[in-house]
Amino acid sequence: MSGRLANKVVVITGAAQGIGRGCAEMAAGEGARVVVADVFEDAGKATVGAIQGAGGESTFVWTDVREEDSCAALMEITVRTYGRIDALVNNAGAFPRGTLEETTTDFWESVLALNLRGAFYCCKYATPHLRAAGGGSIVNIGSIHGIQGAANLVAYSAAKGGLLNMTRTLAGALAKDRIRVNYIIPGWVLTDTEIALQTSLGRTLEELHRIGADLPLGRHQTPEDTAFAVVYLTSDESTQVTAALLNVDAGDSMLPNNY
Ligand SMILES: NC(=O)c1ccc[n+]([C@@H]2O[C@H](COP(=O)([O-])OP(=O)(O)OC[C@H]3O[C@@H](n4cnc5c(N)ncnc54)[C@H](O)[C@@H]3O)[C@@H](O)[C@H]2O)c1
Repeated sequence: MSGRLANKVVVITGAAQGIGRGCAEMAAGEGARVVVADVFEDAGKATVGAIQGAGGESTFVWTDVREEDSCAALMEITVRTYGRIDALVNNAGAFPRGTLEETTTDFWESVLALNLRGAFYCCKYATPHLRAAGGGSIVNIGSIHGIQGAANLVAYSAAKGGLLNMTRTLAGALAKDRIRVNYIIPGWVLTDTEIALQTSLGRTLEELHRIGADLPLGRHQTPEDTAFAVVYLTSDESTQVTAALLNVDAGDSMLPNNY
């Protein structure tokens, strides 16, 4: 632990597993008190247990980011527990596939509720506490599909595109309060959820690793790759960074497709 987040209180949604868990563990390792907010209670508590086992400080708060009351309660419980909020990481999300033709109203609403409305609620209820702390950091976990879109991810692409514009909007609106708002693109991360999805589509692990070896920097990204960026953006090393879009995708989305 090098203490880059010493004394900071960081709320991370969707931190029970995958990218969020990687961020929670690394933030705690840097000295943050981490609130793990998730619908998945057993895994969320396991994340907290791992952090505490490594000597860190963490609490689980059951949260459904699709529900306004749940997000409001998350921030209240955090302040009651740790006295303040310095950073919010809006990470909870999922990317169910659906083309335009396949996307029903209910599907659209559910994908936007999780991937966009949840972040809005968390920003809304965390902001007064960030302001009270004299400033802070909001990190939104986005996706390349929020910029380029994808024909089989119509609702998800719209949600992540909305999240990018909400990032820029809030960065402008909250700068006077010293609250910074940034957006990370994690690339292609082989979490348990992603591996389950890919294998259900007929891809073997061996095939996935072969695909990874062909990516621009020779592998898929990991939760830790994103976590390094989250630690930077929630630390005082980035006090002049806001409205930024940070690609942690090995350039996959930016490089010409000629590798
Ligand atoms: N895995 C990738 O390749 C990839 C790429 C780009 C962006 N992302 C983004 O990264 C974020 C994390 O994804 P991941 O790949 O780690 O997925 P994951 O499925 O491993 O983790 C998602 C977490 O969110 C939680 N969650 C789901 N619904 C929730 C709700 N209503 N309220 C609170 N928590 C909820 C889940 O329980 C889980 O812990 C998402 O926003 C996703 O869109 C992932």
